[in-house]
Amino acid sequence: MKIRVFDTPREAGIYVAALAEQVIESKNHPVLGLATGTTPIPFYQSVVQLHQCGLRLSDTITINLDEYVGLPASHPHSYHYFMQEQLFSKTDIKPGNIFIPQGDAKNLDEECERYDEIIQTHPIDLQILGIGLNGHIGFNEPDDLLLSKTHIVNLRDKTIASNARFFDKTADVPKQAITMGVQAILQAERIVFMAFGRTKAAIVAEAVKENVRTEVPASVLQLHRNVTMVLDRECACALPELNGRCENG
Ligand code: F6R
Repeated sequence: MKIRVFDTPREAGIYVAALAEQVIESKNHPVLGLATGTTPIPFYQSVVQLHQCGLRLSDTITINLDEYVGLPASHPHSYHYFMQEQLFSKTDIKPGNIFIPQGDAKNLDEECERYDEIIQTHPIDLQILGIGLNGHIGFNEPDDLLLSKTHIVNLRDKTIASNARFFDKTADVPKQAITMGVQAILQAERIVFMAFGRTKAAIVAEAVKENVRTEVPASVLQLHRNVTMVLDRECACALPELNGRCENG
């Protein structure tokens, strides 16, 4: 696993956008696996800037990790809406090239199957990941088992509490999500895993600690041969091997 530590999330975002540009420029139909949340925002801002400087995204296919169950695409807290706001409306990505699970699908089991077919048809070249405070990737929550395929998940209390910051009140946070499984994530050609801030330091240290543990889903990334971990200094502090590069030296 490569580790890159930046002074700020903004600098990290510029770096990850440059990695994405390499992928976009090297393929006829590049496929980006995308995440939502606070972490990837500086990355999306940098991709938008690159687009304003001439990077074309019209042949790029995007496949998002997850969506809340029950929220239509038009809901301001849906991940569809987030992606429109942060990236899609500001670039030339074609609507037909955008894939996000339908959280308001009538038949959620069929939607999971449909999504796995999409992922198999468009193998992901570069997967962008954040990490939840409990170690989730996508919405693959800590459990006895990690599920391979796209599935419906009951969000853990910690995830609901953390995501409440986007909603008026905790009771408004959906209790379930539809998420890509760990197989699709691990099938990506390359993974860039981003984490910023002191609050993520302990769980990032758990994720890289030897051995894969289902109670820390991000630890499965140890099984992938091409993962780059992109951190800021505050987050790198808890990694013993990064002592010299962390915020306090
Ligand atoms: C969202 C996703 C989640 C987030 C994680 C961190 O699509 O897949 O795993 O990456 O919950 O969220 P933030 O970045 O808001 O701390």
